Amino acid sequence: GPVFLYDCDTGIDDAMTLLYLASLVRAGEAELVGVGTVHGNVDPLTGALNTLRVLEAAGVTEGVPVAVGAARPMAQDVHYALDWHGTDGLGDTHLPDPAGRPVAESAPAQIVRLARERPGELTLLATGPLTNLGAALLLDGELPSLVREVVVMGGAFDHPGNITTHAEANIWHDPEAADLVFAADWPVVLVPLDATHPTAVHDDWLDRLGAHDSPVARFAARILKFYEDAYTPTLKRRGAVIHDALAAMLAVDPALGEYAHRPVRVELRGDLTRGTTVWDARSLPAEDVRRPVRIAVGSDVRAFQDRLLAALTSF
Ligand code: BDR
Ligand code: CA
Repeated sequence: GPVFLYDCDTGIDDAMTLLYLASLVRAGEAELVGVGTVHGNVDPLTGALNTLRVLEAAGVTEGVPVAVGAARPMAQDVHYALDWHGTDGLGDTHLPDPAGRPVAESAPAQIVRLARERPGELTLLATGPLTNLGAALLLDGELPSLVREVVVMGGAFDHPGNITTHAEANIWHDPEAADLVFAADWPVVLVPLDATHPTAVHDDWLDRLGAHDSPVARFAARILKFYEDAYTPTLKRRGAVIHDALAAMLAVDPALGEYAHRPVRVELRGDLTRGTTVWDARSLPAEDVRRPVRIAVGSDVRAFQDRLLAALTSF
C-alpha cells in the first residue's frame, strides 16, 4: 500500500481524511510516516494540535510525527476559513488538549528528510495550501526525483471557485507555492472542486454515521455538524463536501477516478482571477510546456461514500 506523508490544514474535512488514513494504517493497507501542517483553515499550530487530537482519537500516533509548517503564504497576507471549520478548526467542539506535542522539526524540513530516507516511496498527500511543499522544493532541488507521487486537493476548472468566482481555497491561499508545485518535474495528481463537489454526502450517509455506536464515529459526526451547517445553504439540502478525503482515496485507488492529463498553471496576477488554476487545453502544447498533471474530473461517487463511511465506522 501507499506510504503517505500528509500535509494539511486540519480543518474538518482534513480531520475526516486523517481518520480515513488511520483506518488504512490499522488495516495494514497503508503507512503514515508523518503529518505536516500549514496555514489555511486555521493557523498551523492549531492545525497540528487538531491533527494530534484526531490521531489520538483513532489510536494511530506511534511513528507519526506531527510537524508544524508555514504560518503564512509566500507572497500575500494569511487568511483563515473559520466560517467553514469553526474558530478551533474542528467545528467549535473545543476538544481538550491532545496528550502529544508537535515535533521540533518544521514541516518542510520533515518532507525533505523523509523523502531522503525513503527515496522513491512517498506519496505526498496535500490538502491545504501548498506553502510547505513549495518551501521543501526550494530547500532541496532534488526533491522531485525522490518522491513517488504528489496528490493535491485543490483548484477548479469548469466548476466555479469556492473563495472567489474562479479560485479554489487551497490554491488561492498561496498561488505562488501552488505554481511551484505544478512546475516541478514530479508526478502530480490534482483533485479539484470539479471532482469533489459531486461527492457531497447527504441525510442518509450523515444519519448512518451519526447512528453508529463507536467513539470514533461519534467523534466524526460531532465534528461534521458545524461543516454540515455551513454547507447546507450552498447545497440547498442537508449535506457536506468532504473534499480532502477524495484526494486520499484516489491516491489509494486511482481507478475510482476519471482524469484529464494537462499542464497546469496558476494565475498570479489577475485582479479577479489570482489563484485560479488554468489547464492548457491546446492540442499542440506551447513550447515551454510543463509536465502534464493528472487532473481528476470525476469519480465513482457511490464507492467513495461507501468506503469513507466504512472507514469512519471501522474503529
Ligand atoms: C479545501 O479548502 C479547505 O477549507 C478544505 O479543507 C479543503 O482542503 C476545499 O476548497
Ligand atoms: Ca484542507
